[in-house]
Amino acid sequence: EKETALRPKWIEEYIGQDKVKNKLKIFIQAAKERKEPLDHSLIYGPPGLGKTTLANIIANEMGVNIRVTSGPAIERPGDLASILTNLGEDDVLFIDEIHRLNRSVEEILYPAMEDFALDIIIGKGPSAKSIRLDLSRFTLIGATTRIGLLTSPLRDRFGVILNLELYDEESLKKIVKRSSKVLNIKIDDEGALEIAQRSRGTPRVANRILKRVRDYAQVVENGVITKEVAENALKMMEIDKLGLDSTDKKMILTIVENFNGGPVGLDTLAAATGEEKETIEDVYEPYLIQIGFLNRTPRGRVLTRKAYNYFNLPYPEEELE
Ligand code: ADE
Repeated sequence: EKETALRPKWIEEYIGQDKVKNKLKIFIQAAKERKEPLDHSLIYGPPGLGKTTLANIIANEMGVNIRVTSGPAIERPGDLASILTNLGEDDVLFIDEIHRLNRSVEEILYPAMEDFALDIIIGKGPSAKSIRLDLSRFTLIGATTRIGLLTSPLRDRFGVILNLELYDEESLKKIVKRSSKVLNIKIDDEGALEIAQRSRGTPRVANRILKRVRDYAQVVENGVITKEVAENALKMMEIDKLGLDSTDKKMILTIVENFNGGPVGLDTLAAATGEEKETIEDVYEPYLIQIGFLNRTPRGRVLTRKAYNYFNLPYPEEELE
């Protein structure tokens, strides 16, 4: 089945993220009443939380078309100019990974966002002329995992900024039950909770685990996902009680063994574990911070007592100076 089958199409179907939904409902209703497009909106947060889903919901709720692209896909200013001139009145342009746009492309975006205009330079040297083309009104929706990497002129041109946070257990459980219904999977409440607890606050992870637990239930058990079936499947998948996998454990044990619990800098940690810096920052750290295993300090990453206790390791007491 297609991934998009699981995606909610309306804001009322979208589970969790209440603060974001409450703001959006008001901004969408206000824009619709005034017969205007929604102001340009920036959605940020860790991967897998539903940024693309939310952009599609906004377009749907506004009753307009959406054009989907990404920062790295728009290589030259001309690529963006062509996308912008082909948008319909009040359409949504969704740019995923917007922090990865080229500077030359980004400069095309400024007048487009501000004045719905395209500035084109014709000719070269002293005789070069700039002409301004009018664009249709549109809503730019940008998504990023790294709001800190956006230039301030770009960030300042968004009228709406929405921060997605890791989901709580209750919301994830509802998402697992909803997805099970869509996919015709038999699951009980405790089975859904077991999957929710091990999904690292992330619907994309919850849905992926659900599909693999379904495989296990179908082949090894009687097809119904109960707590016990989920536990057995997750054991086979080497996903522990908190959803930690072998990479999380490698990171934690590296900090313990090589750096005595930290502080350790991101570059050093990346080199020591062989993981990409960006992956550590976007994927691994947010969840370890959320469950209280890791702190970010000015001097680097530090493991907490809670992390030591979870892995039954002795906590290094402060050395006296
Ligand atoms: N599937 C993925 N994310 C979801 C969400 N927030 N609500 C409902 N279904 C989802």
